[in-house]
Amino acid sequence: MSARRYLVAGNWKMHMGVGEASAFLEGLLQEELPDAVDVVVCPPYISLPAAAMLLSASRIGLGAQNVHWEASGAFTGEISAPMLAEIGVGWTIVGHSERRSYFGETDETAARRARRAQEEELRVIFCLGETLEERDGGVTFEVLERQAAVLEGLDAERLVVAYEPVWAIGTGRTASPAQAQEAHAFLRGRIAAVLGEEAARAVRILYGGSVKPGNAAELFGQPDVDGGLIGGASLDVQSFSAIIRAAAHLAAGE
Ligand code: PGA
Repeated sequence: MSARRYLVAGNWKMHMGVGEASAFLEGLLQEELPDAVDVVVCPPYISLPAAAMLLSASRIGLGAQNVHWEASGAFTGEISAPMLAEIGVGWTIVGHSERRSYFGETDETAARRARRAQEEELRVIFCLGETLEERDGGVTFEVLERQAAVLEGLDAERLVVAYEPVWAIGTGRTASPAQAQEAHAFLRGRIAAVLGEEAARAVRILYGGSVKPGNAAELFGQPDVDGGLIGGASLDVQSFSAIIRAAAHLAAGE
């Protein structure tokens, strides 16, 4: 088993305003979550302050879903890394495929966001992954290589990579454990190339795309899969907890 701890992160997307987020977190805090797994939740911006208060005494990490690359300025609708850090947010997702496909995010802008977040001591979950067209066209590994190239210069200690094949997000269609492992092993090689061997051993690579309690164990059981970035199944306390427990069983060698 690798020395990397499992991480299970919930990407709530545009779900759960303050009331629902608070109720969800009160429920999650009632669960006896295993110590062996790192857990992060990423509510929408509006719910972050309430979540920060509820989670302040817990070991559940709090993340944003995006972050701007400037500290302040004329960027209507954006939120900066210092603003997130000020209220106790410790993590941020960057480069999610929905940001890339609906909001014009590119490898370069994602990298700028990631660098700035790390400068403010936030940990970054950097998302990448190929579309169905790219997979069917046989260019998956070219795409992953291009996307991973911009990780150069990032701080490996504050970096998590999330491999999310776009065709598996919200579709109910999951990559097979073998497909996930193949992509993760490839990405670990790219991390070694851009950040060095030590970073490649330490950086966690999460799988994302229709992870559910029923498939988490077989995906997380792959040697280069260090947990998951969970969308739909993170919106329910029971299913999110079940996924965390699946990771804990693997960590315990069960
Ligand atoms: P999903 O979303 O689990 O609903 O497929 C994953 C993600 O987009 O991060």
